[in-house]
Amino acid sequence: MTSVLDLARVLPVVVLEDVADAVPLARALVAGGLPAIEVTLRTPAATAAIERIAAAVPEAVVGAGTVLSPRQARAAADAGARFLVSPGWTPRLLDAMAATGLPFLPGASTASEVMALLERGVGEVKFFPAEAAGGAAYLASLAGPLPGARFCPTGGIDAGRARAYLALPNVGCVGGSWMLPRSAVGAKDWPAVERLARAAAELTPAAAP
Ligand code: 3PG
Repeated sequence: MTSVLDLARVLPVVVLEDVADAVPLARALVAGGLPAIEVTLRTPAATAAIERIAAAVPEAVVGAGTVLSPRQARAAADAGARFLVSPGWTPRLLDAMAATGLPFLPGASTASEVMALLERGVGEVKFFPAEAAGGAAYLASLAGPLPGARFCPTGGIDAGRARAYLALPNVGCVGGSWMLPRSAVGAKDWPAVERLARAAAELTPAAAP
């Protein structure tokens, strides 16, 4: 696999509290048409959740999100993560993510940060925090001067906002947790997650109003 951005048009961002939810949640996302799944390393359950999904849901492509340190990058790879995502980057973290051999998305939200990544040969970037940093209009403004960069905008995006990002030439996929509301995940309502995932998978691009 060479590109995280081409796995699927929508990348669910998962914060898992209960490791027992990992497999049914991943199955619901896959059944709804979202095979790429980012499990954030923000909870004690995360690494075990990645292991379980990698072992039990072969149709899923599970990755690790919120990778903040070289140690976490290595642990995620050891757990079976197939890609790595970070909200930002440092030179040390970039080297560690590259050393795993996995495709990875470092986070950036300014032209200078993206230029520094391009200098290092990294042209695939998580645009974070997308809505707070300026939204689809801001990201559209980066397309002209930075044609070498492609993005996965994430942060504060919902189904409605996702369509504007999907219409941009410099967007490969859109990330977010809107298809995993607490009301459904907390209640272990996997059919509801599957329905929301399907709606996300079927989103069509639409220019911002
Ligand atoms: C992330 O870690 O990528 C974001 O916090 C997820 O974005 P959302 O929960 O605002 O959709």
